[in-house]
Amino acid sequence: MYKNTIHRHQFPSEFKWGVATSSFQIEGAHQSDGKGKSIWDTFCEDPKNIADQSNGHIACDHYHLWEQDVDMIATLGVNAYRFSISWPRVQPDGEGAWNESGFTFYEKLIKSLKSRGIELHITLNHWDLPQALQDKGGWANRDICQKFVRYATEVAHRFAHLAASICTHNEPWVVAILGHEHGIFAPGIKSRAIAMMATHHLLLSHGMALKAIRELGITTPLGIVLNLSPIYPASDNPSDIAKAHLDDGLNLRWYMDPLLCGCYPKDVMDHLGPDMPDVHEGDMAMIQQKMDFIGVNYYTRNFSSSGNPWDVKRTGNEVTDMGWEVYPQGLTELLCRMHKDYALPDVMVTENGAAFKDVLINGQVNDTSRVRYFHDHIKATHSAIAQGVPVTGYFAWSLMDNFEWASGYEKRFGLVYVDYATQKRTFKNSALWYQKFLGEK
Ligand code: FCB
Repeated sequence: MYKNTIHRHQFPSEFKWGVATSSFQIEGAHQSDGKGKSIWDTFCEDPKNIADQSNGHIACDHYHLWEQDVDMIATLGVNAYRFSISWPRVQPDGEGAWNESGFTFYEKLIKSLKSRGIELHITLNHWDLPQALQDKGGWANRDICQKFVRYATEVAHRFAHLAASICTHNEPWVVAILGHEHGIFAPGIKSRAIAMMATHHLLLSHGMALKAIRELGITTPLGIVLNLSPIYPASDNPSDIAKAHLDDGLNLRWYMDPLLCGCYPKDVMDHLGPDMPDVHEGDMAMIQQKMDFIGVNYYTRNFSSSGNPWDVKRTGNEVTDMGWEVYPQGLTELLCRMHKDYALPDVMVTENGAAFKDVLINGQVNDTSRVRYFHDHIKATHSAIAQGVPVTGYFAWSLMDNFEWASGYEKRFGLVYVDYATQKRTFKNSALWYQKFLGEK
């Protein structure tokens, strides 16, 4: 067994230890019981978009196998589970009628987890937007904000009393930039102006939703989840340093500044020029609602170069199956920098994990690299807490192998191995390691 140099008892007793998933990546049942179509269903229809030409029709079939998945989560020994609600499952068109069967599925799931002593962290938007709303312009159309508020308040009204937290959006940068500027994620649009408009509406709808949920008298902690990485210049050249600063602006400050300071960063606005989104009076104050927590999804660090793209292998550190450098110190640096630059609410590491080429041999997956990855990142989280950062939770990505967006089923991030032909789940060594780590007093 792995020799740990970090232990659970070094963390506060109320610390949240979890695993995370998202609806589209695990549920399957893409047309069952009145579910509407999502933009990811549509995106998968074009074989060029997904590496293995797969889709989310079945995924981990969690919609049908949820009871055994709840057992699995409980067996791991976590005290928290982060998952998302599929908007088109509970409101097929993103407006108008609710789909009661969809809500029934989540209600059963939530109640079952709660009865096992596991607290629920609900994400409202983990990317599977109803296609009907995309047909009206999706995140680029300001009207979506009101629709999101209606969806958010309905979910809060039904489930907030059962939840430990509600998050509006998962990784608005990814939705906006990978989905609308690079076009490699749904909805597959390639326009910087549209992408920046989408960022603004994601942030605005977040603020509007927090305000509306609180006006219902709901006191459940509310926040947002961002994908963040420290960004280093590829060299000491002033041009690389300037590029790293700008990239930090586009990735981190573009979200953190409005959320916590009520303004967009000036250098990024200047850089955007005509691609700057249309900001109405009052929008910035609306975005800057008091948050109860910020979720940080951390996987790797990034380098910026003004010239040729930087090759991550040059650092000599291990690289995952996604091509992402393993750099645990980056998590400590990121959390400490956020604490220095902003007046932070509670912070949760809402995703952290790694894909490796797992093989199942005689019922075992010997994923030593993943064990080391989790161990070292948990230790990096502890180091940030020791330096005063208010981190209250850590969620491993992911509970089980699942549909990894444009990579399809080729990349495996799970603690649990999924044989997609049989839907059999097998604890990898990393799951056994996490279980043991959590069980140690
Ligand atoms: C994050 C996503 C999550 C998963 C991991 C690997 O960007 O939030 O759904 O795909 O990356």
